Amino acid sequence: MKSTIAYLHTALQSALVAAFGDDFATTNPMLVPTSNPNFGDYQANVAMSLAKPLGKAPRAIAEQLVQHLDVSELCEPPQIAGPGFINLTLKPAYLEAQLAVTQADARLGVAPVKEPQRVIVDFSSPNIAKEMHVGHLRSTIIGDSIARILEFQGHDVLRLNHVGDWGTQFGMLITYLKEVAPEALTTADAIDLGDLVAFYKKAKQRFDEDAAFRETARLEVVKLQAGDQDSRRAWELLCDQSRREFQVIYDLLDICLTERGESFYNPLLPGVVEDLEKAGLLVEDDGAKCVFLEGFTNKDGNPLPLIVQKSDGGYNYATTDLAALRYRIQQDHSDRIIYVTDAGQANHFAQFFQVAKRAGWLPDTVEVVHVPFGLVQGEDGKKLKTRSGETVRLRDLLDEAVDRARADLETRIQAEGRQETAEFINHVAQVVGISAVKYADLSQNRTSNYIFSFDKMLALNGNTAPYMLYAYVRVQGISRKGQIDFEKLGANAKILLQEDTEFTLAKHLLQLDEIVEEVSQDLFPNKLCQYLFELSQKFNQFYDRCPVLQAEEPLRTSRLALCDLTARTLKLGLSLLGIPTLERM
Ligand code: ARG
Repeated sequence: MKSTIAYLHTALQSALVAAFGDDFATTNPMLVPTSNPNFGDYQANVAMSLAKPLGKAPRAIAEQLVQHLDVSELCEPPQIAGPGFINLTLKPAYLEAQLAVTQADARLGVAPVKEPQRVIVDFSSPNIAKEMHVGHLRSTIIGDSIARILEFQGHDVLRLNHVGDWGTQFGMLITYLKEVAPEALTTADAIDLGDLVAFYKKAKQRFDEDAAFRETARLEVVKLQAGDQDSRRAWELLCDQSRREFQVIYDLLDICLTERGESFYNPLLPGVVEDLEKAGLLVEDDGAKCVFLEGFTNKDGNPLPLIVQKSDGGYNYATTDLAALRYRIQQDHSDRIIYVTDAGQANHFAQFFQVAKRAGWLPDTVEVVHVPFGLVQGEDGKKLKTRSGETVRLRDLLDEAVDRARADLETRIQAEGRQETAEFINHVAQVVGISAVKYADLSQNRTSNYIFSFDKMLALNGNTAPYMLYAYVRVQGISRKGQIDFEKLGANAKILLQEDTEFTLAKHLLQLDEIVEEVSQDLFPNKLCQYLFELSQKFNQFYDRCPVLQAEEPLRTSRLALCDLTARTLKLGLSLLGIPTLERM
C-alpha cells in the first residue's frame, strides 16, 4: 500500500513538470496535511514559492498546476484557496478502500522499508560505579523508542550501550577496593559492594585527602592498562556490580541493549592517534596531541584544539568516540549512527564528527546524528532533587511512580465498588507507573528541558500514558459489553463512512504510516505521541456522537470495525514507544 501522501506527492511532481517543464522535476510541492478540515485533507503550498522564479501570480500558478494534476482516483476536484493554496480532499470511496486494506494488514499500512539500513542506536550509556541519573533515563527511554520505530520499519538495528567503563577513575576505585576488601580479589562473592555510588564517594574522599593513595591509584591505572591480573579482576568486579544495578532498571523499563563499553575500544586508541598523524591532522600542543578544529574557537577567538592524547599519554572521551565511530563504520558496516545524549554534549559530537570526516573515516554514505535532549527538572524548575536535597536514584523514582499509580488505582477501585485481585492491582500499577514515566518523557519535544511531575504524568486526563491506556481499555470494554470478538469481525467487516466524526477518525487512522516515516527521519518521538493522543480524542468524539452497539446493520459492524482499528492502532503505536497495553485498568 502506497501512502496517500506519497501518491499525492508524485502526482504533484508530475503536474509541475507538465505545467512548467523539466526544470521543475525536483521542486518540492510543499504538501502537508491541512490543519483545518475546512481546507480539505492536504494542501500544496508550492504555488507561493514559485511566484518569483516564474514571475507570475501564485493563484495563476496554482490554476495552471491544477489543470495538469491528476488525482481523481483519490480526491475530489482540487480547490484553490487564498493566495494560491491547492486544497485536496480525499474521496469517501478511496478512504473506505484504504481502510479495508489497513484492516487486513497486521502492520496497519506501515510497509517495511524497501532498503533496510544497518543502524546503530547508541543510547543509555551510564558510567560504571557512578549514579545512573535522570539524563541516562531520558537517553534510555528516547533511544529505545527510536530503536523500536526503526526496527519496526525493518531496519537492522544494533542497540549499543556505550558504557563508561574505562578511565583513570578506575585507578582510584581499584586501589580503594584493594584497601578495604582485598579478599574480594581472590574469593568469589567475598564482598557485597552494595551501593557502588557510596563506594565511589568513599574512594574519592581517600583520593582527595591522601597523596600516597593518589600515587598508588596512578600506578594502578598503568597496571590495569598493562593487563595485570589482580587489577583486571578488581575492574571486572566493579563492572559486574554496576551492570547488575543497571540491569534492574533495564528490566523495570523493558529495555534491550548490547553492552559495548569504552573499554572495548581501548586497544584501538593508539591506532586512532597514529592514523590522525598520517592524515596530517595532528598537532603537538603543550605535549598534548590534538587536532585543531574548524569553526570552533576558544574564548580568545583562536581555533579550538580537540585533544586526542594528553601529555601524560592518556586518551580521552573523544579519542574513544573516534575509535568507536571508525569501528562502527568499518566493522559493523552501519549506514546510520544515532547518538542519544543530553544537549550539553552537542559540541563533543560536532567536534569528533568533524575530525572523523577530515580523516576520511566518515564517508558521505554514512549518516551520523546526535539526538540531543534537554535537562530533567523538578517542579521548581531546578535540577531534580529529593526532598532532602540529594540526587534522585532512578530505582526510587520508578518505584514511586508505581506506588502512586497503585494508590490512584486503589482509590478508583474503591470508589467504583469493584473487587480486584492483588495480582491485577500489581500488574496495572506496574504498567501504568512505568508507562507514565516513559510517556511523559517521550511526549515532550525532546530538545526542551522537561519538568518531572508525578501528578501530571499520572493524570487520567491530558496527553498522558493513563489517558492513552484508558482509550484502549474503553474500546476493549465495547467488545466485552457487546460480546464481540474483534478478531472474528474479520474481512467482511466493511467500514462505511457517514458521520463527520467517522470521517475525521478514519482519516487520522490512515496517517499512521506517514507519522512513523516522519519520526524515523527526524527522530522526534513526541510526534508519534501527539498522533496517538489526537487519535484517542478523535475516537472519543466519534464514540460520543455515534451509537455503536445500538446502531443498525450494516453500520453496527462498520463502527465496530472502526473501534477495532482504533484499538489496534493505539496498541501498535504505544508498542513503538515501549508501552504495553492493558485490557482493563
Ligand atoms: N557515558 C556518557 C555519559 O554518561 C554517554 C556516552 C554517550 N555515547 C557516546 N558514544 N559518547 O555522559
